Amino acid sequence: MPYDVIIIGAGVAGLYASLNLPKNLKVLILCKDQPWECNTFYAQGGIAVAKDKKDIPLHINDTLKAGAGMCDEKIVKLLSQESLEVLEDLIAKEIPFDRDKEGNLLFTKEAAHSTSRIIHAGGDCTGRVIHSHLISQISHTLWKNATVTELLIDNNHCYGVSVLTKRGNYNLYAKNIILASGGIGALFEYHTNAYTISSELHGMILENGLELQDMEMLQFHPTVFVKTPYARKMLLSEALRGEGAYIIDFWGKRFLFDYDDKGELASRDKVARSIYDYKLQLLQKYPANSQESEVYLDLSAFSKDYFQTRFPNIARNLNAFGFDLPKDKIPISPAFHYCMGGIKSDERGKVLHMDNLYAIGECACTGVHGANRLASNSLLEALVFARRATLDILGKESSLNKREFPLHTQTLHKEQDENLKTILRNLMWNKVGIIRKKSDLNEALGGIEVMLQSGVGRLLKLRLLTAKNIVESALKRSHSVGAHYMQ
Ligand code: SIN
Repeated sequence: MPYDVIIIGAGVAGLYASLNLPKNLKVLILCKDQPWECNTFYAQGGIAVAKDKKDIPLHINDTLKAGAGMCDEKIVKLLSQESLEVLEDLIAKEIPFDRDKEGNLLFTKEAAHSTSRIIHAGGDCTGRVIHSHLISQISHTLWKNATVTELLIDNNHCYGVSVLTKRGNYNLYAKNIILASGGIGALFEYHTNAYTISSELHGMILENGLELQDMEMLQFHPTVFVKTPYARKMLLSEALRGEGAYIIDFWGKRFLFDYDDKGELASRDKVARSIYDYKLQLLQKYPANSQESEVYLDLSAFSKDYFQTRFPNIARNLNAFGFDLPKDKIPISPAFHYCMGGIKSDERGKVLHMDNLYAIGECACTGVHGANRLASNSLLEALVFARRATLDILGKESSLNKREFPLHTQTLHKEQDENLKTILRNLMWNKVGIIRKKSDLNEALGGIEVMLQSGVGRLLKLRLLTAKNIVESALKRSHSVGAHYMQ
């Protein structure tokens, strides 16, 4: 039976889209693993919103400034103006945002915001709290462990998707398809993303001759604890620095002021780049992994009680690694965090040149983030454009275009793929990372081409297509702007 809408992804964008579609529509949400394996679930800081009508121009200005001249101003205005309605709706949905004793919303600050305007929930568990509330309210069907392997596209129309589940392979057809599949974290050795976030849908877009935009614009989070055995490294929220934590070397020097007079609160790209550069200098003098070669997050501005209450998730995770907080200093590194670029889509979330395909959330590029996303604008973008996409779907006549596609038969994984994925992650981190050189980018491109020609499985091929697009976009932009820094 065909669907009215198929949504790929069960992060905040996908779930909120489904909540905006009435129960009488036949809607299916597909997610690759368990629904919580998405970037929303691990988001700590919060949701940036205009605090009131007066704050809208300031929020717009901060977003445009962070985006380094590359944002689409019209879209940024929509984002900020509609943040007030979205917030009202989330409150109506009883999301328990943190409040003071009088019941007023608590706002925190992160880098490059001119005021405290970030709402949060569960202290530093914003993503988890929102995710569990939204998922408890959905009334549509959700399939877990469902890997999308193909977009069934022909002549500007998406007929449906091929999906692999434990029960087998299916072609599913729908009047409208919404992509909400997240970004590209699994392409990098160090990243903060859920392990499912691997850019396969981006690869399918390229396969179908559709456009990705600004893919060289990758955001690296400055403060991540990377000495863990897991693929997803441990994010240490920027809200920590917003509320008083600072960054020091082994000798206690706050070296970030040598790079920018805003120190720890300079924009995310600057802080990440400065830490990366400082660590490279330390590594020339001291052996790798020695205490002297590390850069640290100092949490001594917090009392033990305040820290446990305000940042319970970070406290629990770091305690599990043996840190005594807030006394101990935490060795940190930048790590890949967010993809500003993505599937080119318009102000309705509609994919360019397609009549019934939408892309929302991190997988999309609406032009809102430009060359550098303002902290905590990502959950907001997912919410605003989920609503816009569903309003567009509900406001138009959608009919089912009938067309049968053959079931896909390609091998998804091949034996060599695990090794090649490690090589790819390494290549992307070392050659397409925080500080880029033309020669490194060309080397990465060569490596990716070789892997693409080595007969890899379908899912790795899709990752490689996305990686290739990132490198090619980086090579096309020879000058530094925002997060794209060419040496
Ligand atoms: C953080 O909590 O530092 C991350 C927030 C974001 O990515 O916007």
